[in-house]
Amino acid sequence: MGTILRVENLHVAYGKFKVLHELSFEVEEGEVLGVIGPNGAGKTTLMNALTGLVIPYEGNILFDGHTITKLTSDRRCRLGLGRTYQVPRPFEGLTVFENVLVGASYGTGGNERTTAARAIEVLKSTDLYEKSDIVAGKLTLLDRKRMEIARALATEPRLLLLDEVAAGLTDAEVREVMRLVDYLKQTGITIIWIEHVIKTMAESTDKLLCLATGTRLIYGDPQYVMHSKEVEEVYLGVEEE
Ligand SMILES: Nc1ncnc2c1ncn2[C@@H]1O[C@H](COP(=O)(O)OP(=O)(O)OP(=O)(O)O)[C@@H](O)[C@H]1O
Ligand SMILES: [Mg+2]
Repeated sequence: MGTILRVENLHVAYGKFKVLHELSFEVEEGEVLGVIGPNGAGKTTLMNALTGLVIPYEGNILFDGHTITKLTSDRRCRLGLGRTYQVPRPFEGLTVFENVLVGASYGTGGNERTTAARAIEVLKSTDLYEKSDIVAGKLTLLDRKRMEIARALATEPRLLLLDEVAAGLTDAEVREVMRLVDYLKQTGITIIWIEHVIKTMAESTDKLLCLATGTRLIYGDPQYVMHSKEVEEVYLGVEEE
């Protein structure tokens, strides 16, 4: 076990609009890091910078010993970085199996037989196997979230980035997602998990990072972060989603 991800003094902007600044943190291999923070804090932007959708104008990202700051998304994916999207973008007209197969072939570059086998394995581990032949557009929200995770998992990530996979779900459904994340952690995958439900996050993560106005507000043990003055102030009057 060692450090799998190191973010050093990250600065990210969309054109002239600066979003992240002076952001540094590390993630240990095998841990679940929760990322919280108010709307617009820069959480998704951090994911975008980690996966190559936006290139930082200053700072460095080191993944598994490689400097990936300016690599393309597909190179990062092949190195073992997988993600889900806050707004899922499945291929609505394709079946669940086909959707996951796309992830498997994009991420692993394997042949037809190995990618199909990988897709089936992932569908089983995400409880979607029985629904393999359903067209994605017909899935319930929980199953769409599962499929979003399955598509990312199919790329065989060592670091999986989850962006609000529990948003919009009922409490019982959120527990299902938590169970899935626990299972993934047991398989040894490192996870960065963005979510607004802080209490849930505090129960299921090893560390919590709270972002506010594009930088690190507080970071550390989940209980310590959850009960900190900083988090209380930043969430004051903000209902949990
Ligand atoms: N593609 C973009 N172009 C320009 N500005 C953007 C873009 N994406 C996000 N922003 C802006 O950057 C800031 C940070 O957005 P981001 O989506 O990273 O926040 P977030 O913490 O994920 O918020 P939420 O909790 O609502 O998902 C916001 O002010 C947002 O309007
Ligand atoms: Mg977001």
